[in-house]
Amino acid sequence: MIGRRMTMNTLQGKRIVLGITGSIAAYKAAVLARALIKKGAEVQIVITPAGKEFITPITLSALTSKPVISEFFAQRDGTWHSHVDLGLWADAMLIAPATASTIGKMAHGVADNMLVTTYLSMKAPVFVAPAMDLDMFAHPSTQHNLEILRSYGNHIIEPATGELASHLTGKGRMEEPEKIVEVMESFFARKQELAGRRIVITAGPTYEKIDPVRFIGNYSSGKMGYALAESCAERGAEVILVSGPVNLRISHPNIRKVDVESAAEMYDAAVSAFKEADAGILCAAVADFTPETVAGSKIKREGDGLTLRLKPTKDIAAALGQQKRASQLLIGFALETNEEITHAKEKLARKNFDFIVLNSLNDKGAGFRTDTNKITIIDRQGITPYPLKSKKEVADDIVDRLANLF
Ligand code: C5P
Repeated sequence: MIGRRMTMNTLQGKRIVLGITGSIAAYKAAVLARALIKKGAEVQIVITPAGKEFITPITLSALTSKPVISEFFAQRDGTWHSHVDLGLWADAMLIAPATASTIGKMAHGVADNMLVTTYLSMKAPVFVAPAMDLDMFAHPSTQHNLEILRSYGNHIIEPATGELASHLTGKGRMEEPEKIVEVMESFFARKQELAGRRIVITAGPTYEKIDPVRFIGNYSSGKMGYALAESCAERGAEVILVSGPVNLRISHPNIRKVDVESAAEMYDAAVSAFKEADAGILCAAVADFTPETVAGSKIKREGDGLTLRLKPTKDIAAALGQQKRASQLLIGFALETNEEITHAKEKLARKNFDFIVLNSLNDKGAGFRTDTNKITIIDRQGITPYPLKSKKEVADDIVDRLANLF
């Protein structure tokens, strides 16, 4: 979710395609359209056939002073509505409410109506405000599709928890129109403060081969590093994301992904990319040890046991810390289980970081594989603890800090 900073009116003159789908929350879309227009935005509504069952196009066109688009062709004169033109016209597309069905179609490119077709042609940032019953929202299919949309760089405005049209209570209520407007205002307020900067980010685990079918790995999901890449890219930075093997997708025109597997491959990619970079954020959980030799064929189950001899890997962070020029910034991470602050401070100095982000395995909701994180930022001036937040919000906090240092 996007941070909700208080902002000035950044929607003035913005062209917004507002997509409305068939959810009971469609009645709130009229209030939403009105609120966007009051902020000075120009709103073009695209509605699905099911959306029209919940709110009439007449209400919407009266509010927006524009005909509502629903069909591929205008009914009366047969004029073609160009989704491509809409995709180029808009400064943002907002789909509110977004049903499970529309979210699924968007995730998989099922362009059987004007709204999804417009979405697929959209050049501008896309915001999605889901609205549905709690069980539909919680279903793995919906969650998976939302994850896919996130990986396309779309911004999901999480639904709120409360009473639903079914009279059940749970998560699924479309976020209130004024909150949605706030999210969009805050998005447009975000300056392209990292434009012209090149940032190397390492993310995910490394796999150290034992034999052709086995490896030593770790639980890192890459979520924190990918959220950092997205946050830097949104602010205009050119990002080189050096990623270990993860199950995440990311696509943003500013992000170039370099896939690696082992600590040695990550070292080579990161060291080479850092030479031309303004900053490095080292978020990967790099193996500290790797097998001395890799068996050429699958190791057989023989004898009483197996002893693997491991040798240390090269410390990417320490190498970059050493080669760092005065104009470059280097940010590290520390995941500690005991004497966290002391260990983190020691790493800050030893690896020559400008600041270090500490996440503790002792905090619930922090660390590997979670969608949330609770961090403490430590630099030479002091220690700043942050509350538990989503990894995207945590990424925004870290990138705020980085941007201030430039
Ligand atoms: O020493 P430790 O592994 O705890 O340090 C963590 C920090 O160092 C992280 O920022 C991690 O990405 C980085 N690191 C690295 N290369 C290694 C080991 C750790 O870049 N081989």
